[in-house]
Amino acid sequence: MTEQNHHIVLVGFMGSGKTTIGNTLAAMTGLQHKDTDSIIEESAGTTISEMFRVQGERHFRYMETRTLEILADQQNVQMIYSTGGGIVMRQENQQLLHRLGIVVWLRIQPQTVIDRLGDDNTRPLLQGPDREQKVRDLIDARRGAYMASADVIVDVDGKAPQEIAAEILQQIGMEPA
Ligand code: S3P
Repeated sequence: MTEQNHHIVLVGFMGSGKTTIGNTLAAMTGLQHKDTDSIIEESAGTTISEMFRVQGERHFRYMETRTLEILADQQNVQMIYSTGGGIVMRQENQQLLHRLGIVVWLRIQPQTVIDRLGDDNTRPLLQGPDREQKVRDLIDARRGAYMASADVIVDVDGKAPQEIAAEILQQIGMEPA
C-alpha cells in the first residue's frame, strides 16, 4: 500500500521535546499521540537502552523502519506521532515518514540539548565522555537528513511547549479543537 496518510509526525534531535510537544498537541487538538520509541519498547518488551546493549543499534534501527512500515500501512484516524531522534538517517525512513503525513522538524541548537540532557542516562548514543562534542557532531551529521525529511521547521530554543505547539498548528493550517 502506498497511500499517503494525514498524521502529524514530529522529528528532531534528542531533547528537542518531541514527546512533550506530542502530548501538548494532543491536548490542544483532541488527537491521540504515540511515540515510535514507546511502540518499539512495548512490542519488544524491553527498553531502548537494553535493546542497544543486548542486540545493538542495528537491530533497533531495523525495528524503527519496521514500525514506520506498519504505521504507514495502517488506515487510521488522524494521529500525532513522535519519533526517535535518529529515525531520519535511513533514506527509506524518510520516505516512510512522508507517507505517514506532514513531517515537522523541531529544530534545536546544540547548546540547548547539552543544557537539557546534561545528566540523562537513557540515551545510549550520548553516554560516556565528551557528551558535548557527541551532541555537536551528531547534530552536524544529521542536519541534512532532518532538512530532507521536514515539511515544516519550528525552532524550539527558549520557547514553552504551548508556544511551540501553537506554532506548529498555525504552520500546518490546523485550528486547535
Ligand atoms: C536516538 C534517539 C532516542 C532513541 C534512541 C536513539 C537517536 O530517541 O530513539 O536512543 O539516534 O538520536 P529520542 O530522540 O526520543 O531521545
